[in-house]
Amino acid sequence: MFIKIEIIDQVGILTIDRQDALNAMNPQVLRELDLAVKTFIADKNVGVIILTGAGEKAFIAGADIKLMQQLDTEGALDFGKLGQKITMTIEDSPKPVIAAVNGFALGGGCEISLACHIRFASENAMFAQPEVKLGLIPGWGGTQRLPRIVGKGNAIELIIGGHMINSQEAHRIGLVNKIFPLDQLMEETMKFAKLILGNGPRSIAESLHCIHKSAGNTLIDGLNLEVEAFSDLFGTDETSEGLTAFVEKRKADFRS
Ligand code: CAA
Repeated sequence: MFIKIEIIDQVGILTIDRQDALNAMNPQVLRELDLAVKTFIADKNVGVIILTGAGEKAFIAGADIKLMQQLDTEGALDFGKLGQKITMTIEDSPKPVIAAVNGFALGGGCEISLACHIRFASENAMFAQPEVKLGLIPGWGGTQRLPRIVGKGNAIELIIGGHMINSQEAHRIGLVNKIFPLDQLMEETMKFAKLILGNGPRSIAESLHCIHKSAGNTLIDGLNLEVEAFSDLFGTDETSEGLTAFVEKRKADFRS
């Protein structure tokens, strides 16, 4: 098993543990990760998911290069689609997925982090889409998600430069939400996960859905999607509890 699974206070923690290859991903790691995320999505005891890497050096050092060396175009198509599938599982998760990037997030590792809803990074984290150095292009969503997150100009610079950037630069261009010292990364990520857990799970899921589904839409299509989700919530206990709790001057209880 390459994925360690833990649940602490309704936070599901997934740790990619293949340290001898800096947590690089082969098909087995990808399949295990896909299954683990789906298991947490289905688990009523989990409200937020954190994804991180084992050790102090790497989040994920990318797709497994030694494996890719053996692939023909057909094998590469399967491998590319498998990686893209897990990025969709993460991005479509109705429960927020936070990447706690604790070191190298390179190639496919950067792309997995891009599929997460939020990226927190340690001070030592390094990001890159170095595929062009290998005669490749990003294959797990980098050409599509990176420009949406950091803007087209920054994305092109990173993808055709192939160079690494540190977490400060990643923060400056909007790739990273927050930076913490490595020894505080998990604690701070847990703190934010617990903040999210105080909020309505259905409201969170609908917000994520509207944000992601409207990415390729016109403004008017996005507004229509949003107003439908907004009004649907008024038929739920969650919204009734949230509004009533405010009026009664008490904290809303969304999860009991
Ligand atoms: N695939 C397979 N093995 C990898 C790996 C990868 N992506 N990254 C690191 N490793 C292995 C190394 O081969 C090495 O194993 P051995 O001891 O058996 O040789 C071990 O991990 C430790 O790595 P290094 O000795 O290289 O460690 P370092 O500290 O000197 O360097 C590094 C660290 C800068 C991250 C360097 O390992 C590196 O550049 N790795 C490759 C990063 C990369 O190019 N990733 C993108 C892959 S392409 C991709 O992901 C395509 C896509 O879009 C899906």
